[in-house]
Amino acid sequence: MTSALRIEGGTPLTGEVNVRGAKNLVPKAMVAALLGSTPSVLRNVPEIKDVQVVTSLVELHGVAVDLDKETGDLRMDPSNVSVAQHADIDAHAGDSRIPILLCGPLLHTIGEAFIPDLGGCRIGDRPINYHLRVLEEFGAQVEKLPTGISMKAPAGGLKGASITLPYPSVGATEQVLLAATMADGKTELKNAAIEPEIMDLIAILQKMGAIITVETDRQIIIEGVSELKGYQHVALPDRNESASWASAALATGGDIFVRNASQKDMSTFINVYRKLGGGLDIREDGIRFYHPGGDLNPLFVETNVHPGFMTDWQQPLVVAMTQAQGVSVVHETVYENRFGFTDALVRMGATVQLHRDCLGPTPCRFGHKNFKHSAIITGKSQLHGTDIHVPDLRGGFSHIIAALTAEGTSNVTGVQVISRGYEHFVEKLESLGANFEVVK
Ligand code: EPU
Repeated sequence: MTSALRIEGGTPLTGEVNVRGAKNLVPKAMVAALLGSTPSVLRNVPEIKDVQVVTSLVELHGVAVDLDKETGDLRMDPSNVSVAQHADIDAHAGDSRIPILLCGPLLHTIGEAFIPDLGGCRIGDRPINYHLRVLEEFGAQVEKLPTGISMKAPAGGLKGASITLPYPSVGATEQVLLAATMADGKTELKNAAIEPEIMDLIAILQKMGAIITVETDRQIIIEGVSELKGYQHVALPDRNESASWASAALATGGDIFVRNASQKDMSTFINVYRKLGGGLDIREDGIRFYHPGGDLNPLFVETNVHPGFMTDWQQPLVVAMTQAQGVSVVHETVYENRFGFTDALVRMGATVQLHRDCLGPTPCRFGHKNFKHSAIITGKSQLHGTDIHVPDLRGGFSHIIAALTAEGTSNVTGVQVISRGYEHFVEKLESLGANFEVVK
């Protein structure tokens, strides 16, 4: 796997990339397959590290998995689901947070589950308290061990519950959906997340036989059923990867057609991109994102849960904002600590000031807690190449964009983390004309 790139910046990225199924849906859809009494087939599955990790985790629990890499068809047969060793789960989970979402389906099928110490991207503390509370509300018995968290289903299985999330968390909403569909009785979820990936997961569960009603005001009602069958489903396209390539086109002064980018899941991004001065050509088969020439406009952006501007779009777009003429402001309201990647941008010549105050109208959870969660970006800055070790998935991709935008050479290490969520990104960069060498 590629771990370092020597990038020569200054060449606009131009050409076409193809985007497949969403990283933030596919692993959850794979977990849902565990609930079926018959095999499932998920289509449009990308070759990314997160898919490999979930594949090994479900295989450890007895699911037979077969991926056709060419077509992206992933077949999962859950007929022999069984208990796995804690040490094996730990060894295969890597730094993924997915094991927490296996809990509901495993409690239904084998009556127990184990979560090793979790990693995921290093953005804030990324706690799992909502998940544990949700599982306890369904009746799971949760025990903290030195190696992780062990869980057992109550006698008679999980029971439907009335749950209000303290925040519309994506993962906690998925936790409820995966636990409630086969729980005994009705579950009422308030303050749910309603991201397109969650709607796609609901569509999958409905295909399997679940009864799920999405009501107004972030309420979801799930009526438990005693059996679910397998599903056939095409995963929705990855709107975060699409937005990343869009930002790369703008920052480098390029022109990229993102095949399969979907307008309906990206409308908030598209509005912001247009206000920033980005060029767009929205087609049925994808979206062309390009720099139309002239100056980009400074902008105010606040990240939020769907239908707001996604936090995962923020980091790549900040790189493009360093190329806008004037002062841009970004208020990050989803994660308390998602601006660490800007240190490298400053070293490259960008002017980015971080602030603890909420620089935006939405009251957020971080305002009085000493987190630098607002950024003021003043451009236009000529970026210069530097040495960077990438911190996390989105920050890492943003550093690649910055290095491609900069004049001179950047040595970027730790890039393997990017393959967690960006399929074949090195090959894609090559096809877009990026000037770089893979450092062995
Ligand atoms: N939170 C808690 N306690 C919890 C769970 C979440 O306090 O038990 C907090 C988080 O710390 C955060 C907020 O709630 O401040 C929202 O987190 P959420 O649960 O919504 O995030 P997640 O499910 O862990 C998914 C994506 C993230 C994406 C977020 C927000 C996956 C695998 N990950 O994470 O994607 O940023 O939703 O949309 O679906 C990425 O793709 O780079 C990425 C980080």
